[in-house]
Parts: sequence; C-alpha cells; structure tokens
Amino acid sequence: PLAEPPSSNGNAALAALAEEAAACRRCPLYRDATQTVFGEGPATAAIMMVGEQPGDQEDHAGRPFVGPAGKVLDRALAEAGIDRGAVYVTNAVKHFKHEQRGKRRIHQKPNAGEIQQCRWWLDRELAVVEPALVVALGATAAKALMGRTMVLSREHGRPVSFADGRRGIATIHPSAVLRMRDDTSREAAFADLVDDLRQASALLR
Ligand code: URA
Repeated sequence: PLAEPPSSNGNAALAALAEEAAACRRCPLYRDATQTVFGEGPATAAIMMVGEQPGDQEDHAGRPFVGPAGKVLDRALAEAGIDRGAVYVTNAVKHFKHEQRGKRRIHQKPNAGEIQQCRWWLDRELAVVEPALVVALGATAAKALMGRTMVLSREHGRPVSFADGRRGIATIHPSAVLRMRDDTSREAAFADLVDDLRQASALLR
C-alpha cells in the first residue's frame, strides 16, 4: 500500500514519539517521576505552547497542564478566544522534578543539563507539528527556546524569533500568576497572560 502523506501521519508520528519518550532515560529525572508527561494536541496545531515541566498532578495524570496551572491556562485561553483543543501543549522537560518533603512533593526547577537532554523531544515535537507560532510559558521554556535568558517582565508578549528561527512569543507562566502574593497583582499578571495570548492569536491572522 502507498504511504500516507506526512500531514495525515502527524498524529501517528506524535503517538510513536510519546511511546518512545515513555522509556526515556536521557537524564536521571525518570527515576523519581511516575511517568513521562509528553505533549498533547493535534499534529496540525498552528500554535505550540511550551511550559516548564509537569507538576504533581500532571505526573500522576500523565498529561500536561491538568493541575492548578492548567486551570489558569484554560481560563486564559478561553478569555483570549483560543480553543485549547486546537493547540499542541507540551513542556521543556517531560518528567516531574521534585523533592519529597514529608508527604508533599515540592517542585524543583530543572537544570540546564536536564533541559538540554529533553530538548531532544521538544525538537521532535516541533519537527512533526511545525507550528506557525511557538508560545513559551515562563522563563524556563523561554530560555530553552531562545538559548538565552529572557527578561519576561520586559520581553513578554512581543513577537520574537527563537534560536531555531521559529516565530513565537514568550509570556509569563500560569504558575507565576498563582504565586502572586495579593489579588491585585494576581489579576494584573493574569491580564498580562491573556493579553499575550491574544497577541499570539493575532500573529496568526
Ligand atoms: N507547569 C508546567 O510548566 N507544565 C505543566 O504541565 C504543569 C505545570
């Protein structure tokens, strides 16, 4: 039988990648995590959103952005008029890095080596999805994609060209919204996130 054109093979290619990534041992983070949390969404997505790494709930569910940060992202996407089902959502690092404190598992930032090792998977996702626009959620994703530290307070919401030449924008991480100490700053941060997502959407038109 004739091979199907690559476009219709995209979802199968992503499924194959996810299966491969489930056995990833490229860095030590797999040891303490429940499972690999691979990206999720249609291979035809025009937008790819890249977060930092799965959190506690994502680690258990095996899906990106389903915990508290995911709820914030869902609300922001809805306010920006973007259908999450049409977006490919993934993370710079695909295992939950944490420290056990009593019964709680406390999030720890992935280091440069872990981000570098996991770039292997992000590059494969990018090659299959070929998004028209990449949205970096937070400083870790921004650095992974840009190859340098981005000052998000200044650089968020602007069209940029990431290190591999892909078009995108960087915005604040949904978890950063949750970490704001008072309602006023939390609402302001959320409004920035929504604005940036609107910008992203406008860049596609
Ligand atoms: N934070 C992230 O960066 N990614 C997730 O999937 C969940 C929380």
